[in-house]
Amino acid sequence: MTLSVPTLDLDRPASHLAPLIDPFARAITYLRVSVTDRCDFRCVYCMSENMSFLPKADLLTLEELDRLCSAFVLKGVRKLRLTGGEPLVRRGIMTLFSSLSRHLDSGALDELTLTTNGSQLAKYAAELKACGIERINVSLDTLDPDKFRAITRWGDLGKVLTGIDAAQAAGLKIKINAVALKGVNEDELAGLVTWAHGRGMDITIIEVMPLGDIGEERLAQYLPLSIVRARLSEHFTFEDIDYNTGGPARYVRVNETGGRLGFITPMTHNFCESCNRVRITCTGTLYMCLGQEDAADLRSPLRASESNEPVYKAIDEAITRKPKGHDFIIDRRHTRPVLSRHMSVTGG
Ligand SMILES: C[S@@+](CC[C@H](N)C(=O)[O-])C[C@H]1O[C@@H](n2cnc3c(N)ncnc32)[C@H](O)[C@@H]1O
Ligand code: SF4
Repeated sequence: MTLSVPTLDLDRPASHLAPLIDPFARAITYLRVSVTDRCDFRCVYCMSENMSFLPKADLLTLEELDRLCSAFVLKGVRKLRLTGGEPLVRRGIMTLFSSLSRHLDSGALDELTLTTNGSQLAKYAAELKACGIERINVSLDTLDPDKFRAITRWGDLGKVLTGIDAAQAAGLKIKINAVALKGVNEDELAGLVTWAHGRGMDITIIEVMPLGDIGEERLAQYLPLSIVRARLSEHFTFEDIDYNTGGPARYVRVNETGGRLGFITPMTHNFCESCNRVRITCTGTLYMCLGQEDAADLRSPLRASESNEPVYKAIDEAITRKPKGHDFIIDRRHTRPVLSRHMSVTGG
């Protein structure tokens, strides 16, 4: 199956388009797209067990997602990450990857990538590589099968590890994302770092963010990365390095393993000053900041006209509202989510 993407003004050179620069002079060059809010896992920090999902009719079609992503590419986006929910459970998703890969071929895009829970990687790794994908992020918080089941509720560790094997065999570079969870995987993080680096993978440890009502007290899960880092330095020595993937992670080199370790600390460290990214949901809502409610509807202008002009106008207007930073806070007075939407809606 191939996508029938209309040949409108979509793939014309973008010389007539103004690049996306926000009010704080940050160039927007990175778009993250949640292609579905659905998932085959129910991670305790991300979803409640009984999630209700959007009606399928509300979702952008794969053609519409292609059109919207391509509009951003024409507006200067150089890196595109598909996420979710679990991007690889969306039916026909490989046709979207395949179709978007034309922007890699043309040189308009530097990188096309995804964040995945790894459950479907064994099936799709080779196809992803064939679409020009070089590096992927795989989320994995533990190597203990029982703990894995407890954290993801529905996941099977063996399947994810087979997926990681398949991805490496296909030549994809992998970065592991692990969320630090108090009393759950905190004693395992050093082992995860050793394992990831032993397989030639970078690893990033992420602080829990207060997104969405998940039916459990956020405070119970929250483990500040200052503590994680202090504990890891009992096992390893770190060297600060100037490695930057354009994201919020601060990287160190672990001298004992030679591998890279990143820390994403949205709660304890403000990473907004260099923010180059925006996010769209699977319904075409543009969020200028992961940590703020303000959003712009792009589905209506997308559907209103065959021309992309209304979409460009809506994007330009939204970027003028990109805030300076987020307002995350977890403390004893704020155990409710700051934002009602889940990470699976905006994409992690
Ligand atoms: C929402 S998931 C979507 C992609 C895919 N399903 C996966 O798990 O990789 C993206 C990332 O967000 C992280 N995440 C989800 N909810 C989070 C939260 N409340 N705080 C911090 N990270 C979270 C996940 O661990 C994952 O690494
Ligand atoms: S973190 Fe990813 S795998 Fe886990 S429930 Fe959320 S979307 Fe699904």
